Amino acid sequence: MLVSTRQLLQAAQQGNYALGAFNVYNLEGVRAVVLAAETERSPALLQLHPSAFAYGGPPLVALCLAAAKHASVPISVHLDHSASPDAIQASMAAGLTSIMADGSHLAYHDNVTFTRQMAKLVHASGGFIEAELGLLSGTEDGLTVPEYEAKLTDPQQAASFAAETGIDALAVCIGNVHGHYHGAPQLDFDRLALLQRAIPVPLVLHGASGLPAPLVRRAIALGVRKLNVNTELREAYLGALKSSLGSSQSPDLLALLQTAVAAMQAVVAEKLQLFGSAGRI
Ligand code: 13P
Repeated sequence: MLVSTRQLLQAAQQGNYALGAFNVYNLEGVRAVVLAAETERSPALLQLHPSAFAYGGPPLVALCLAAAKHASVPISVHLDHSASPDAIQASMAAGLTSIMADGSHLAYHDNVTFTRQMAKLVHASGGFIEAELGLLSGTEDGLTVPEYEAKLTDPQQAASFAAETGIDALAVCIGNVHGHYHGAPQLDFDRLALLQRAIPVPLVLHGASGLPAPLVRRAIALGVRKLNVNTELREAYLGALKSSLGSSQSPDLLALLQTAVAAMQAVVAEKLQLFGSAGRI
């Protein structure tokens, strides 16, 4: 069933678990997330990066909404990382219930101004807004933030940011990165504990691909309620296509796509178990 992200996060807050938000690009990604969520009896978010939103347009949004509606578990549809008021407005009009307004590349006061404006716009449509303070390094869909530009989230500033903007969730930077970690991931849990104490809204961790299970569990124990996963899904998809193509001259297309769905579904199922949302429905 299609539900709002607000409803999913409220349940996650009460149950002390985290939601998986999975970036999707096409029918195979959507099927993988919904099938895994149904099998694991878990809620989940289908998440569209702005480049996927621009590429797939209304048909891709309609696909996500229809798949959520027909699912036997609660699914919401979210616009990830948008810096565009037009895209945010369009996604609300298309029926999405939540967005991430990403002003993390802006100076603090500009981020406050942008995020506050987007919060008004989103709340006027009854939606839910996530924002980011600090800046994550790494690469996602062609957007790269070099390591030297990345900034960890300051807890004091985050408290003011949440109060000044009226956001519903905050994505924090505590050493997490988009894409691949270089070396063993190091998360600043002291900072996360301070953030949890300082901020009244649920915390979000981007860059969950490649994070070892003990770190994920500790982050959830310290208040993270939404984890974003993209790279591991994309790699499962591409890996399955590559190995199937390698073994056959002219593979059956549907069989090939089903192999890709199964590979992504396995990743999603593992994350839903790790995040503690499996078995909640
Ligand atoms: P990964 O690609 O590192 O999983 O990050 C996904 C993400 O944070 C999407 O916003």
